[in-house]
Amino acid sequence: MNAGILGLGRYLPDKIVTNADLEKIMDTSDEWIRTRTGIEERRIANDDIDTSDMAYEAAKAALKNAEISAEEIDLILVATVTPDQSFPSVACMIQEKLGAMKAAAMDVSAACAGFMYAMITAQQFIQSGAYKHVLIVGVEKLSKVTNWEDRNTAVLFGDGAGAAVLGPVSDGKGVLSFELGADGTGGKHLLQEGDFIHMNGREVFKFAVRQMGESSLGVLDKAGLTKEDVDLLVPHQANIRIMEASRERLGLPLEKMTKTVHKYGNTSSASIPMALVEEMEAGRIKDNDLIVMVGFGGGLTWGAIALRWGK
Ligand SMILES: CC(C)(COP(=O)(O)OP(=O)(O)OC[C@H]1O[C@@H](n2cnc3c(N)ncnc32)[C@H](O)[C@@H]1OP(=O)(O)O)[C@@H](O)C(=O)NCCC(=O)NCCS
Repeated sequence: MNAGILGLGRYLPDKIVTNADLEKIMDTSDEWIRTRTGIEERRIANDDIDTSDMAYEAAKAALKNAEISAEEIDLILVATVTPDQSFPSVACMIQEKLGAMKAAAMDVSAACAGFMYAMITAQQFIQSGAYKHVLIVGVEKLSKVTNWEDRNTAVLFGDGAGAAVLGPVSDGKGVLSFELGADGTGGKHLLQEGDFIHMNGREVFKFAVRQMGESSLGVLDKAGLTKEDVDLLVPHQANIRIMEASRERLGLPLEKMTKTVHKYGNTSSASIPMALVEEMEAGRIKDNDLIVMVGFGGGLTWGAIALRWGK
């Protein structure tokens, strides 16, 4: 049984924080942030909106888009490193809110590669025939763990949520191949210590450029496809320079790579599903398109998926 995406949804906080806003509270500049990261602004959730609230809104939108009811969901997987609390999980919280009472529910912790890990976990359950419909959500309220006095990290991140309903699709469509990986020896380069995110930007940058390129090529190879077959590259939206390096490795023209980093910053596990929604809403994804998604993050973790769009 092939597993594919039946519907997508997202939630974006209303509040926009621009680089000019950050210039007022820390020693940084719009010019530095733009040239080093490509980020122009990000969304920040209000205090009364927590991770589960954003996850719920994105999940509701994905169910509607998929035309699947909450009662038809067999499993809920929420990829997040910023849950409301350690337990109950965000997945259990949204199970209740959605009324998806048949569904098993758990959170997945793989940082910015979390959505890739959740999608492949879902795919395995569907492929084996154990479950039919799996709801996956990538959601982060990174503003809760951002040290607004640390310019090395504070300018990079944003809040948001993206969700997908996965289910059986016809032969040749859906997930064609995947690669997931981890390297705990690099955990020290990107971590939450105490209340806040700490990062060795240069080390993460080097790792990301290498891994994004290798994993993208790896999934194409596993699917028996080549760079020329790719219609759309959807990289984790961390930094435009890292994204550009992946695009160049695949030899793709500009228009074949999704770019939302300038508007939303790095939203960790939410970045890939939010980017997919953006492409879907712009009408840029067509039936049978070959999409390569690739992410990396704290852990260190990484993941890539080659997916043939359509049901
Ligand atoms: C963080 C990152 C943008 C820094 O870019 P960079 O080109 O490596 O920056 P450099 O190391 O050359 O420059 C750092 C300098 O800029 C300064 N700087 C850091 N943040 C700054 C900011 N927001 N505004 C102004 N200056 C800043 C540093 O203090 C340092 O100054 P120094 O040289 O006087 O010590 C880049 O390393 C990066 O994107 N890394 C990956 C991060 C990532 O993606 N994390 C999430 C993974 S999911």
